[in-house]
Amino acid sequence: MIGMRQLMLLSSPPIVNRYNRCKVVSSRSNSSSSSSSSSRRGAAAAAELRSPDLVALEYADLKLEEMDALQVGHVRIRQHVNPLSSSFTLQVPVPIPDWKQVFKDSTLPLMVDIGSGSGRFLIWLAKRSPQPKNYLGIEIRHKLVKRAQSWVKDLALNNICFMFANATISFQQLVSSYPGPLTFVSILCPDPHFKKRHHKRRVVQQPLVDSIVNNLSPGGQVLVQSDVLEVALDMRGQFDAKEGKLQHMDSVDASLVCDAQGWLSTNPMGIRTEREIHAEFEGGQIYRRMYQKI
Ligand SMILES: C[S@@+](CC[C@H](N)C(=O)[O-])C[C@H]1O[C@@H](n2cnc3c(N)ncnc32)[C@H](O)[C@@H]1O
Repeated sequence: MIGMRQLMLLSSPPIVNRYNRCKVVSSRSNSSSSSSSSSRRGAAAAAELRSPDLVALEYADLKLEEMDALQVGHVRIRQHVNPLSSSFTLQVPVPIPDWKQVFKDSTLPLMVDIGSGSGRFLIWLAKRSPQPKNYLGIEIRHKLVKRAQSWVKDLALNNICFMFANATISFQQLVSSYPGPLTFVSILCPDPHFKKRHHKRRVVQQPLVDSIVNNLSPGGQVLVQSDVLEVALDMRGQFDAKEGKLQHMDSVDASLVCDAQGWLSTNPMGIRTEREIHAEFEGGQIYRRMYQKI
């Protein structure tokens, strides 16, 4: 068995369109530089791995795949949903839940993950939360939300909830009705919507940024990241513009260092998201910014 770090080093990058699902894994098992038999074994193992396997490995201790095998089986999920589609459910705010029914203690600090995808990332955090905290994932793909909810139920977690909602439409009402303080918002590898005429579909738009800044409690934090530089720059521009209300974390916490371009050098969360794993596997860079409300 080889470790995650070893796998990450062995994984190699040569895929042309990094936003397509990763299918190709190139082998370094013949590399003359790998002298020991254990590193050859590691390289061979890595050669057989695909990026989804790395996700399963990174989240192995959650044992979610075992639960799936027992219950729902494989879930086919649409690649993309257009948040501006005429679908009624995506265009109206979701009803405000009774927060007391949602979380065991609805007065705890809240972290919201916008575009939570499969939910593995947030579930991992919720299981390990060092401080008592609640976690809310907002996701526009219904099947992902249903599966994440079933995992939460199986794991008997009472500090996490996934909602099927369009964050652009529902974020403000959800967080402003929450009884406790909003202390963390993450927007991690949002859909890039590359074409200029599709930029309006991107989740980070001015009203959402305003809503995040206004609802965050003092000292609350925002983490944004993308493996697409243009998307990262777009988000960075909008959050940097809140200077006076937000400050970048490297000026607050000396342990959070930025590179020469001002991107955070390391992942501050202790776990990578799925998109992050896929992107790094394919040789991509993750561009991160993290802010604190003044
Ligand atoms: C590229 S995936 C990234 C998922 C996860 N954050 C990660 O890093 O692995 C972007 C996710 O955001 C969701 N999404 C896109 N627009 C959204 C919106 N307006 N509201 C909520 N979720 C949205 C998509 O359905 C998708 O699951």
